[in-house]
Amino acid sequence: MAPSFIRQSRLYLDNAATSFPKPPEVLAAMVHYAEHIGGSAGRGGYAEARASAAVLQTCRERLNTLFNGENPNHFIFTLNCSDALNLAIQGWLRPGDHAICSAMDHNSVLRPLNELVRRGVITQTRVAADPATGWIDPDTIRRAIGPRTRLIALAQASNVTGTLQPIREIGRIARQADVAFLVDAAQSAGHVPIDVRAEPIDFLACAGHKGLLGPLGTGCLYIRPGLEQRLRSVRQGGTGSVSERDTQPDFMPDRFESGSHNAIGIAGLSAGVAWLLEQGVAAIARHERELCGLFIEAVGAAPGLRFLGPPGPDGRVGVFSLRIDGFGPRVLAAHLEEDFGILTRSGLHCAPGAHRTAGTDQAPPGAAADDVGTTRLSFGPFNTLQDIQFAADAVVKLAGRQIPSPPAIPAPV
Ligand SMILES: Cc1ncc(COP(=O)(O)O)c(C=O)c1O
Repeated sequence: MAPSFIRQSRLYLDNAATSFPKPPEVLAAMVHYAEHIGGSAGRGGYAEARASAAVLQTCRERLNTLFNGENPNHFIFTLNCSDALNLAIQGWLRPGDHAICSAMDHNSVLRPLNELVRRGVITQTRVAADPATGWIDPDTIRRAIGPRTRLIALAQASNVTGTLQPIREIGRIARQADVAFLVDAAQSAGHVPIDVRAEPIDFLACAGHKGLLGPLGTGCLYIRPGLEQRLRSVRQGGTGSVSERDTQPDFMPDRFESGSHNAIGIAGLSAGVAWLLEQGVAAIARHERELCGLFIEAVGAAPGLRFLGPPGPDGRVGVFSLRIDGFGPRVLAAHLEEDFGILTRSGLHCAPGAHRTAGTDQAPPGAAADDVGTTRLSFGPFNTLQDIQFAADAVVKLAGRQIPSPPAIPAPV
C-alpha cells in the first residue's frame, strides 16, 4: 500500500490501540471543518449548521457502503467502540435474559455483561476458545443457546491473538435460534471486509479511531433495520429535532444520538472511511496478510520466542502477542522502544480471558510479578514490508541476547 503521509522517525506498531498515522485527508477534513464549518448539526437553520449535518450524513452513507448496510440512518455515532457495545448490550437485554460471550472478549463486552449479571438482570455463558489458536468453535455457541438467550456478543478479531472468528457461521446459528448477534469489530473493521447482510450481523460495534482511520473519540453502532424499536436508548437528551416534545424521538438516528455530535471527529472519520472505500478493504486485507506472513517467517527461528494465535497468516489480523524467554513483557516493550524506536503495548490488553486461555495471564519465569501478559505488535495499512522486517529483526536480535539489561521501565498499564 503506497503510504501518502509524512514518514515517522519511530515505528508505531500499536494500531490495535488506535491507528497511526491516518491518511492525510483525515486531518484535512478536520481542519476544513474547524476553519469553514464550525456549526453544530441540527442546532440552527444557517448554512454552517446545515453543512455540519451534511458532514454527518455523508459519513453515515460511507459507513453504509463500507459494510453493505440497508440504510445510512442505522449507523449511530458513538464515542468509541466501548460506547457502541454498551448501547447494544444495555439497550437490548431485559430482565431474565441470557447472553453468550467468549473468553476471548475484551472488557468492553465482559464488563457491561458482568454489570448486568451483578445487578441480577441477566445470566450469561462465556464460552471457551482453543488455547492454541484462540478460535471459537461455532458448535460451542450452538450448545450454549438456551430458551432465554437473547444475545450473542463476540469480538470478530481478538486484540490479543489476532484470531478471526467464524462470524458468518455464528451469525447463521444466531439467526436460526432467533437470537440477536452483536459483533465487536474493534479489531476487524477496516482490516477485513465486513458485510452485515451476508454475515449476518444484527449489531456491529466499531471504533472509528482504529481500522476506520478516524480520530480518537469516534465510533459507531450499526443496528439492523427492524431491531431499532426493540433497542432502548441508554442516553436521552436534545437532538435538535421535535424540540416541542420532552420525550426522546423514536426515529433513526435521533432515537440513539442525544447531545451535540463530535462533528469535527466525524468529519475525520468520514475521510478515513472514504480512503478505505477508495483503496478497497480487500486490498488492505491482502496487504496486511502479506505483512503477517513476512513477520511469521522472519521471527520463526528466533530462540525462545512464541507468538499467540494462528500459526500462519490465514485466519488472523496483524496483531501479534509475543513472549521471549528471559524477558518480562514490559521489559521487552521497553527494549523495543529504547533500542529500536518500536512502539508496542505490553500487559493484558483489557482482555484477561484471552490471556488466561493462552496461559499468559501470569508473569513469565524471572520477570517481576506484575509484568504479566505479552508484548503486542499490531500493524496498520501504512506499514510496509520494510517496517515489519525491521520489527522482526529487532525481536530476533533481542531473543538472541542472553541476559537482557532492563532499561528504565514505565509504570504498568
Ligand atoms: C476487541 C476490542 N473491543 C473493544 C475495544 C474498545 O474500543 P474503544 O477503545 O474504541 O472503546 C477494543 C479496544 O482496544 C478492542 O480491542
